[in-house]
Amino acid sequence: MSNRKPVTLHRLRELHAAGEKIAMLTCYDAAFARVLDEAGADSLLVGDSLGNVLQGRSSTLGVSIEEMAYHTGCVARGNRTAWIIADLPFGSYQESAEVAMRNAALLMEQGAHMVKLEGGGWTAPIVRFLVDRGVPICAHLGFTPQSVHALGGYRVQGRGEAAAEVLRRHSQEMAEAGAAMLVLEMVPAALARELTKALPIPTIGIGAGAGCSGQVLVLYDMLGLGEPRRFVRNFLDGSAGIGAAAQKYVADVKGGRFPDDAIHGF
Ligand code: KIV
Repeated sequence: MSNRKPVTLHRLRELHAAGEKIAMLTCYDAAFARVLDEAGADSLLVGDSLGNVLQGRSSTLGVSIEEMAYHTGCVARGNRTAWIIADLPFGSYQESAEVAMRNAALLMEQGAHMVKLEGGGWTAPIVRFLVDRGVPICAHLGFTPQSVHALGGYRVQGRGEAAAEVLRRHSQEMAEAGAAMLVLEMVPAALARELTKALPIPTIGIGAGAGCSGQVLVLYDMLGLGEPRRFVRNFLDGSAGIGAAAQKYVADVKGGRFPDDAIHGF
């Protein structure tokens, strides 16, 4: 067992200030939480991607807050030191800040240290409301899977000056509203790098290039179980097992060897 102290928001800010990349993976259960924590992942994201990878859905839209709370509790019981982020699923925060707060509390009662919600602009007052009440927030911009139908499918976001400008504005608003972290999904690498430099908070990229402050992958994708996607690498390939694959992921993110913009970037 490693002797790492629990990763706190303060520690994540220290990593960011020191320029050390933050290594995050999604996680949905206790057994994997133990392995990923031991492998040195800074943060475990209980993503609503569990709707795709565990439940076999074609999108995340059908995932409920009860399911998110259940999986958050499973991860929290297996984890010892990693920072746990849990997704607010579709329909659990759009209605009002009060509803968002009630559902964030359900996740935090199960052991989440931070909650994540998707979208910019209209989300800023909700982020502020939750932050003021002691809920650390991770925002999520770029391709936001809960809006897959509105966005017209799985597409890179922020291409072209007008779309890039919206992302610049929304990311600044998220930081000003008090979000402590920002996931950027499927954003051109050059734009993600620019946003990362401009923001006071760490960015975590998935399909957003090497210029982000950290990286996240869906666990099952990085173990080679998902559909091949440009921004994914199979870390189990050539590793002695799942623990070794996770260690390699952490080492390659921290060492700047993953992602490689020429291979994984847009
Ligand atoms: O649900 C999830 O796994 C996510 C990541 C893709 C960032 O939101």
